[in-house]
Amino acid sequence: VINLNTGHHCSQPDVVLNAVKRYLDIENQAPVTTAPARPELESVRRGLAKEFGCDIEELAITRNASESLQILQNGIDLAAGDEVVTTEQDYPRMLTTWDQRVRRDKIVVNRVQFPVPTTADDLYARIEKAITPRTKVLHFCHITNLTGQLFPVQRICRMARARGIRTIVDGAHAGAQFPFKLRDLECDSYGVSLHKWLLAPLGTGMLFVRRDLIDKFWPLQAAPATSDTDIRKFEEIGTAPQRQAGDCRRAGVSSGHRRRTQSRAALLPDDALGERAA
Ligand SMILES: Cc1ncc(COP(=O)(O)O)c(C=O)c1O
Repeated sequence: VINLNTGHHCSQPDVVLNAVKRYLDIENQAPVTTAPARPELESVRRGLAKEFGCDIEELAITRNASESLQILQNGIDLAAGDEVVTTEQDYPRMLTTWDQRVRRDKIVVNRVQFPVPTTADDLYARIEKAITPRTKVLHFCHITNLTGQLFPVQRICRMARARGIRTIVDGAHAGAQFPFKLRDLECDSYGVSLHKWLLAPLGTGMLFVRRDLIDKFWPLQAAPATSDTDIRKFEEIGTAPQRQAGDCRRAGVSSGHRRRTQSRAALLPDDALGERAA
């Protein structure tokens, strides 16, 4: 059986799976200390920041894209009546997260409808039209999971920033499927699943937050005030098999990512910024 479903989570290559098993064994033999994982996490952070084109101090390693995005969605201060613009075709869990904030904080969520396929211009126009003076956040996919619709991320983010609106981009399926650099997208924040197209261990994700905005998002699990501007505050999750993240690096996943994105680059030369509609 050949498993081609990279969209849920990829089948980990033997080299990755064996490394995960090896480090779980090590962890099991030394259960009282998680400290040795830290240097590995920092080298993974460095590698990912280089691959995805952001500052190392802007990148947190999470357990999946859901966690990355919910940190952003639940961590941003919003008052009753503040508005969020997203789309009807965003990921159901992320829509549920906003729905919960509607119930909890009385915010307003506007789900933009769009036909498939459509153009980058149409998507831009629909999102711009949905903005009101109370809009505080735009949340949309770099590429949707349902149909592979690409969004003109850079254009939308530029427009949002000019109006003082924060952008949350769902890159669960973008990371390592096609080449792009986060700095070129000009978004405020971005979430990725590393266990999809990157072939990283199951239960790994990535969160990007622009450096000057880190203190505008509360972590899901509390961190001390001294960490307010530190991207690592989002990684304070208590006891967890954190070495799995270290395994990405040791298992040589970043070189696999390079090979993969190079071949995708040949297929999708114009799509790095999501400017061309699918
Ligand atoms: C568009 C989109 N966003 C978010 C997620 C959640 O990703 P994860 O399962 O890594 O939490 C998925 C998962 O398929 C997705 O397709």
